[in-house]
Amino acid sequence: MRAIVVNELGAPEVLKLSEVELPKVLSNQVQIKVQAISVNFADIKARQGQYHGTESGAAFTPGLDCAGEIVEIGSKVTRFKVGQRVMAFPKNGSYAEYVNADEDLTFVIPDELNSETAAASLTVGITAYNVIKKMAHLMPGETILIHAAAGGIGSTAIQLAKILGASKIIGTVSRDEKVQVAKDFGADHIINYVSGDFVEEVNRLTNGKGADVILDTIAGETFERSINCLATFGRIISFGHAGSMPGVLKTMDLHSSCRSVIGYSTGTYRKLRPEFLKESADNLIELMLQKKLTIHISKRYTLAQASDAHAHIESRQSIGKVLLIP
Ligand SMILES: NC(=O)c1ccc[n+]([C@@H]2O[C@H](COP(=O)([O-])OP(=O)(O)OC[C@H]3O[C@@H](n4cnc5c(N)ncnc54)[C@H](OP(=O)(O)O)[C@@H]3O)[C@@H](O)[C@H]2O)c1
Repeated sequence: MRAIVVNELGAPEVLKLSEVELPKVLSNQVQIKVQAISVNFADIKARQGQYHGTESGAAFTPGLDCAGEIVEIGSKVTRFKVGQRVMAFPKNGSYAEYVNADEDLTFVIPDELNSETAAASLTVGITAYNVIKKMAHLMPGETILIHAAAGGIGSTAIQLAKILGASKIIGTVSRDEKVQVAKDFGADHIINYVSGDFVEEVNRLTNGKGADVILDTIAGETFERSINCLATFGRIISFGHAGSMPGVLKTMDLHSSCRSVIGYSTGTYRKLRPEFLKESADNLIELMLQKKLTIHISKRYTLAQASDAHAHIESRQSIGKVLLIP
């Protein structure tokens, strides 16, 4: 089969379309003929050697999630059959024509959802749902600040925050072209944090109180400055480092203000507590079926064009989700 292989870490061009062996299906796995692949920012971090064990530089196929049709099932699989359409977090990277996924990390796609939407939704939907609902415990009437608001996570988180009762949704973006786009996803206020000061703006928009919940996927200075617009009792979720630099935390910023910093990784839950993701996946699918949540797909590339897809996301111009179609 054909798959993207990264033999050396580096720029988008290291993503090479290669001929690789079809992986053997284990007893607890399904084999999926892939129809659509989600491109996540984590794939860029992996390609750069900055994500979950890729630091060693050993050859790997990137990709967290995909959707397609089951072509083979392992002897112990009970919940799936050949021919079913599913979305999954596969064992091998998802930038491939075929993947194998554990039964635990495979989810049926209802007839009403197409495979592209399903593929695009899995990582961003589960992650955004978990950080807002299960980590931050957003309560109705609270204010939320979402960084990188026009991207895959951002566009999904804005919609979920509204569904979960946020009274004010504030987002940040780096370019004016993204301001209206992010507002169209449902945000009340969008701040260009390159040309403006997001801390001042958030404090102004909340009458000096700050945001009750902050979703930070950028880290570095953005994380450090975000603490200055986090409300008393506020929760900031640290779940990405798009900006590459780590942020430094001062304990003095937390204790008397009763504020907390919570780390989160869907990848870690996938590996160590896969059962934690099932309820979130079910809720995500239900919200999409009810048409309350729309996953915005802005661009599609072929598998051979994976490097163009990465370059597009790294350019910070991408909106919503980007897919690869094998
Ligand atoms: N922990 C988890 O489980 C988990 C799961 C999924 C995603 N994430 C994280 O969530 C973030 C968003 O992921 P995504 O796949 O939806 O990507 P995305 O938001 O579609 O794209 C990344 C966005 O990050 C912003 N950004 C800030 N600094 C950047 C930099 N130095 N280089 C490139 N982009 C930069 C850009 O928006 P602006 O230019 O508008 O700021 C860019 O559009 C990533 O940090 C990712 O690692 C975490």
